[in-house]
Amino acid sequence: MPGAIYAEGLVKTFGDVRALDGVDLDVPEGTVLGLLGPNGAGKTTAVRVLTTLIKPDSGSASVAGIDVLRKPDEVRRSIGLSGQFAAVDEYLTGRENLRMVGQLYQMSARDAKARAGELLERFDLADAADRIAKTYSGGMRRRLDLAAALVVSPPVMFMDEPTTGLDPRNRQALWEVIQELVAGGTTLLLTTQYLEEADHLAHDICVVDHGRVIARGTSDQLKARTGGERVEVVVRSPEHIAPADAVLRGFGKGTSSVEKHTRRVTVPVSGGAKLLAEVIRELDGRGIEIDDIALRRPTLDDVFISLTGHAAESDAGETAGTAGTAGTAGTTGTTGAAGTTDTTGPAEAEEPGAQQEVSS
Ligand SMILES: Nc1ncnc2c1ncn2[C@@H]1O[C@H](COP(=O)(O)OP(=O)(O)OP(=O)(O)O)[C@@H](O)[C@H]1O
Ligand SMILES: [Mg+2]
Repeated sequence: MPGAIYAEGLVKTFGDVRALDGVDLDVPEGTVLGLLGPNGAGKTTAVRVLTTLIKPDSGSASVAGIDVLRKPDEVRRSIGLSGQFAAVDEYLTGRENLRMVGQLYQMSARDAKARAGELLERFDLADAADRIAKTYSGGMRRRLDLAAALVVSPPVMFMDEPTTGLDPRNRQALWEVIQELVAGGTTLLLTTQYLEEADHLAHDICVVDHGRVIARGTSDQLKARTGGERVEVVVRSPEHIAPADAVLRGFGKGTSSVEKHTRRVTVPVSGGAKLLAEVIRELDGRGIEIDDIALRRPTLDDVFISLTGHAAESDAGETAGTAGTAGTAGTTGTTGAAGTTDTTGPAEAEEPGAQQEVSS
């Protein structure tokens, strides 16, 4: 029996771009699926197909057991959607926006008012509730859009990058609301670029790239695959990169990666803070000077490096020099060293292989 969100072989092209290239999904009722992927991976396109906003070229899908292509109107009545771009009415106040949504969904005026008040409070919009949305900041709009998606609790919800642009406190507030919804039986598909967020909220994670699911599994399975925490060292001078890489590989549980221009060497480890002390002693013992050392959680890039052997690529044309993205111009791997990923720029990266089932 298919899950509350089900898709088989979804393909959607825009000109030459295969935004979805054969996506299968199956989200059991009452669970959260995190659709994780870099810019341009196809996340929003998948959400738009599943929420009936666009039609796929081929494939089939159902939501809450209703066929998305045959009965779009019925699907729309069973879902809630919070999009990547806010869909609030600029000329209504925050409060009016929320009450209007409630009434559209046939709530009584009294219930709609109560729910609006509650959500405005939760998303820290109470003070601005009676100003028109046009005067809101970007983050405020984002929160209003999320609140609007939460006025009613439909059985199936879609949230496209719900926390992008939220400050930590509001992100936390949203995480709590999401957890309550799911505890109440809602099925949720959320897209994110943050592994940490998928880790926190999702029962299952699908990693997408170039319109394809390249890995799926629980967060634990994915982390086991990705190697959990990382030790990251920035050495003082370029000639210390190679010896530091050798030291780190000695402590590591997987592929190390080297970013030459920042003199940064990273390796997945297990062992936490105690291990960090050992690494420092070893580096010190070999006279390798360091500017920085840290233990950090895997990022989306780490996941991509583990799964595909190269860093996450962004949209075509945006690749070179993208700030904060490992694997862009200027990043080279240690050549010829087994166990070291070549994080050379995307231009040289291979197509990701067939989908891998992740298991711990
Ligand atoms: N309406 C459209 N017309 C043309 N190309 C499109 C359209 N919508 C999406 N695309 C292309 O399809 C690909 C997937 O886009 P999509 O918006 O699904 O990515 P995404 O994973 O949501 O990315 P982001 O993290 O940036 O939101 C991209 O290459 C994008 O440029
Ligand atoms: Mg998107």
